[in-house]
Amino acid sequence: MTSIIHSHTARPEQNSIAHLAQQDASQEHGGHAADGYGRPKEEGADFTHGIALYLEKVSVWFDSFRALNDLSLYIDEGELRCIIGPNGAGKTTLMDVITGKTRPTEGSAFFGQNYNLAKMTTEQIAEAGIGRKFQKPTVFENFTVMENLLLAAPRDKRVAKSLFSKLDPDAQLALEETLVQIRLQEFVGKQAGLLSHGQKQWLEIGMLLMQRPKLILLDEPVAGMTDAETERTAELCLELKKNHTLVVVEHDMSFIDTISEKVTVLAQGAILAEGTLAEVQANEDVIEKYLGR
Ligand SMILES: Nc1ncnc2c1ncn2[C@@H]1O[C@H](COP(=O)(O)OP(=O)(O)OP(=O)(O)O)[C@@H](O)[C@H]1O
Ligand SMILES: [Mg+2]
Repeated sequence: MTSIIHSHTARPEQNSIAHLAQQDASQEHGGHAADGYGRPKEEGADFTHGIALYLEKVSVWFDSFRALNDLSLYIDEGELRCIIGPNGAGKTTLMDVITGKTRPTEGSAFFGQNYNLAKMTTEQIAEAGIGRKFQKPTVFENFTVMENLLLAAPRDKRVAKSLFSKLDPDAQLALEETLVQIRLQEFVGKQAGLLSHGQKQWLEIGMLLMQRPKLILLDEPVAGMTDAETERTAELCLELKKNHTLVVVEHDMSFIDTISEKVTVLAQGAILAEGTLAEVQANEDVIEKYLGR
């Protein structure tokens, strides 16, 4: 998979998801919805237009407060998109919408062309291939690294049953690949509670990888990390980019500088600027509302 971020910047006719919503509605009535997602499950996410995620005119209201304000965002397949912005800008809320934790009050959210995220449960969205790391690490502290990874494997595979017995080859492969990527091979038998903060964050990323997601959302992955851990996490993100689409929210600008291609700046629930980090850092609105003078 190669990034096609530079191959198109604006393709409104292809970007528009109005036709997807229509298609989805007709399928609901047309009886195509074998799994309740609008398409037979085994087809997987359809990235034929090169776009992994479509958010169109999304607003989220919490009572009278508008956390997302008419937000439109398109993430290409294979892209690594960074999202920055002040506290309370709506970055986590955006991830909540993508993962089904929060429903858009208005607007549409699609994963590929065929998964209407606004109609799916959090479990269905995870199964469709979207994995998310929350702001705080949520590993099982009393379990070992290996057990945490196995517990995170998809439930319908034999791996869950074989937690304490011989692994099936699929699970063994996923485990080995993941351990190499998160560089915790030496710590497989170590209790997760005894890992450093950075290692816990990597373990949680590993738990995501066990589910073989196509799109990975990372919310402040380097918060609280040492400089060395931050550097290692940047390397990990760049490795993951080779075969995943990533959306990374961070406040750490040197980390963003290391990994970023295209950066989206969010403020008050809306997009303030998009471009390279240097471009958005030079943007007057961004300087005023986020970076300060
Ligand atoms: N469930 C909720 N009910 C009411 N208000 C909420 C809820 N979730 C978020 N908010 C509000 O929405 C706004 C956006 O919050 P969000 O967590 O998305 O910001 P953020 O950009 O992730 O900030 P940070 O950088 O501090 O993590 C904030 O003002 C927050 O208080
Ligand atoms: Mg947040």
